[in-house]
Amino acid sequence: MRSTLTRRLALALVCLSLFSFAEEPPEDLMPVETAPPLAEPTQPPGQSMLDTDGILCLVNRDSKITKNYVPADLRMPEVATRKKGMEERILMREEAAQALEKMFQAAKREAKYTLYAASGYRSYGIQQILFNGKVEAVGSRDAAQKTVAPPGTSEHQLGLAMDVQAPSLLNLNRAFGDTEEGKWVAENAHRFGFIIRYKQEWTDITGYLYEPWHIRYVGVAHAQAIHALDVPMETYIAAVSQLPEYVLRGGTDLLLAGLARQLMADAPVLPADDLMTAQTEPEQQAALRAATEPYLPAGASYEQVLWAIYPTPKPTAGPRIDADEETSLFSSRQEQDVLSP
Ligand code: DAL
Ligand code: ZN
Repeated sequence: MRSTLTRRLALALVCLSLFSFAEEPPEDLMPVETAPPLAEPTQPPGQSMLDTDGILCLVNRDSKITKNYVPADLRMPEVATRKKGMEERILMREEAAQALEKMFQAAKREAKYTLYAASGYRSYGIQQILFNGKVEAVGSRDAAQKTVAPPGTSEHQLGLAMDVQAPSLLNLNRAFGDTEEGKWVAENAHRFGFIIRYKQEWTDITGYLYEPWHIRYVGVAHAQAIHALDVPMETYIAAVSQLPEYVLRGGTDLLLAGLARQLMADAPVLPADDLMTAQTEPEQQAALRAATEPYLPAGASYEQVLWAIYPTPKPTAGPRIDADEETSLFSSRQEQDVLSP
């Protein structure tokens, strides 16, 4: 008990004295939580993508997370870190961890860039220590909360955010955006379901200064829609939270971006009734298909767009129609079989 207390005090002192030179603390100075994360989710999963356990949950100073919220499915992504021993600092929720692994692998494969994970899940308590350290370093709460979220308002607590570093720049600061790796992340993160959450142009809306190193997982469909619209998550969520849950879960990026654009307009246009009121699964699938049609690029089919976003099609997503040799041979043979006596 006494040694835990001493350790915590020592960690707090280290934080207070050393947090002033980067916008977020370097990962090796961050305190590591001694107690293992709780495994209990605070609410049943899957109620809404917008709820605390949903990947679209918006967290900011107006929309807080409770003190005791801990995601149930945290794990360590198998990605590089600047040095060994950082495992407990880079936890993410399962889905986000998988996406991060794919993104880091793609950076290596496509551009030969090494990315490092620096800071993932942070408990309320750790965020409190970080925030207090920043207040101490910069002299006021107002200045501190331009770069570090007060406890309960950090999306790191959702297990859906990661701070990313490049080997050439180990501090987490705006210069990451000018590195080759930072540019690659900005141009490609959406392909893997991540958004750059705090862009320079959005500081008035997000409340944070530019953080090119901080990526937030929202899933591929929403990340691509947000990237195409180039709007802060606050603006996007205000629009799409008006849509039915099944559209948030099964809409393509094209549909989501199209509907969000309509809803964000000065004179907002509500989607068609069919989409807003579809009840059964077949009705919903038909409504998604019909609503996406106007947004399809010339020559692209709904299936192509759907499967690019959701690679494992749901059984209800309709039959896959491939225009390759084997399929056509197979269909004509089937037809012949039917026609044969
Ligand atoms: N730096 C971001 C805003 C956080 O502390 O969550
Ligand atoms: Zn961050």
